[in-house]
Amino acid sequence: MTVGIERLAVYVPAYALPLAALARARGVPPEKMTQGLGVEEMAIAPPCEDVVTMAASAGARLLRAAHVDPETIGMLLVATETGVDNAKPVAIFVHELLGVGRRCRVYELKHACYAGTAALMTAADWVRAGGGRPRRALVIAADIARYALGSPGEPTQGAGAVAMLVGPEPRALVLGEETGTYADNVYDFWRPIGRREALVDGKYSVECYLAALAGAFTAFRGAERPALRSDEALGDRLARMLYHSPFPKMAMKAHRRLVELDWRATERWAAVEPRLEEAAAASYRELVAPGLAAVARVGNTYTASLYLCLASLLETEGRALAGRRLGLFSYGSGCCAELFTGTVPADVAAVADAGVGEALARRTLIDVPEYERLTRDGEAGGEPPPGFSGEFVLHGIRDDRREYGRLRAALAA
Ligand code: HMG
Repeated sequence: MTVGIERLAVYVPAYALPLAALARARGVPPEKMTQGLGVEEMAIAPPCEDVVTMAASAGARLLRAAHVDPETIGMLLVATETGVDNAKPVAIFVHELLGVGRRCRVYELKHACYAGTAALMTAADWVRAGGGRPRRALVIAADIARYALGSPGEPTQGAGAVAMLVGPEPRALVLGEETGTYADNVYDFWRPIGRREALVDGKYSVECYLAALAGAFTAFRGAERPALRSDEALGDRLARMLYHSPFPKMAMKAHRRLVELDWRATERWAAVEPRLEEAAAASYRELVAPGLAAVARVGNTYTASLYLCLASLLETEGRALAGRRLGLFSYGSGCCAELFTGTVPADVAAVADAGVGEALARRTLIDVPEYERLTRDGEAGGEPPPGFSGEFVLHGIRDDRREYGRLRAALAA
């Protein structure tokens, strides 16, 4: 049965901090952030916005664009590591805000940045399983990446949400059925209960990411059908390769590792080895760089990061990629990773607009004092600031209960 992503929609906060300004404020050469990490700007959420409002804004846009009646959604999954309650799932707030019907399985998933993929795979398996009623799932990955002010992780923050309709009529991406997975208990990145900012062992997290990539890629390579010939690299079967991208340079490091693993597994390794760096750089430019444009301007969106890359790629290159195969690598600290592929359907052009370009074009750039103020006041609720582009707001928190509302249509337009 054909299953995959029928359409995507993206929401990013309307405020962005240029990394060059952050670098100057922290006494660091701007090139360290813009070239060393590859980030230009990072999205900053105002206090009236949290993971619920971002997820709901992306979901509302998706349902409208796809002309889907919310009553027909049989599964609503929200993946996040920025949960707002230890018991009540983000997904049930989103369920109400979007007017999804009562005959629906609704829950939240957590495994650091991997949860978006866990939700996508769960939804795809549920659609494949079939049943009496047509199956269509709404999967939303949404996060606010926060590290302590002045810490090494600070330039790798960001915020955003990606909503995906998963069903039997995929026009954005047909999911391949084979995947390669990898899991290991590591302490690379974590957020103890009660803490707003994540704790991270930064350099170690990069090593864990690369080790997980090696594990998932090796598993996938072996499961590839039709099986690879002894002289064939998997990369040659892919038109683009998308990575979980906490910052663009991480995707570059990952691809360098993948190219090496891929060629080492072939009988041509001895011939490729002397020109590995050159081959990896050329492969990065062709397969990876085109998918990183949005991440460089939004920053880390944790669970949503890989799908922001996908949405941005389809928006800019969808038509040209019709009929071609993409590789996707998902990593969540802690850790779990999955490598899978998907084919871009022939009629992708009709659904390729996920709202990425439009959202980025109408953002307001803020300075460091404003960023620090917004971060300090984070998630207190209140009035939306000028230029706010979300459809929903967090009014406030009363008696430990979060109160949300929909903005007037004029504000949300
Ligand atoms: P750092 O100590 O600030 O930076 O930490 P650095 O010293 O490693 O420098 C960064 C790069 O800038 C280096 O490039 C430098 O050479 C270069 P590289 O050698 O790596 O290619 N550089 C310069 N370039 C140009 N001009 C200059 C200059 N100076 C230096 N003047 C680190 C960097 C990523 C560790 C830090 O930002 C961090 O801790 N970030 C958060 C953790 C993270 O994102 N980890 C990624 C893997 S884990 C993951 O992806 C999961 C995650 O998304 C969470 C989840 O799963 O939920 C995080």
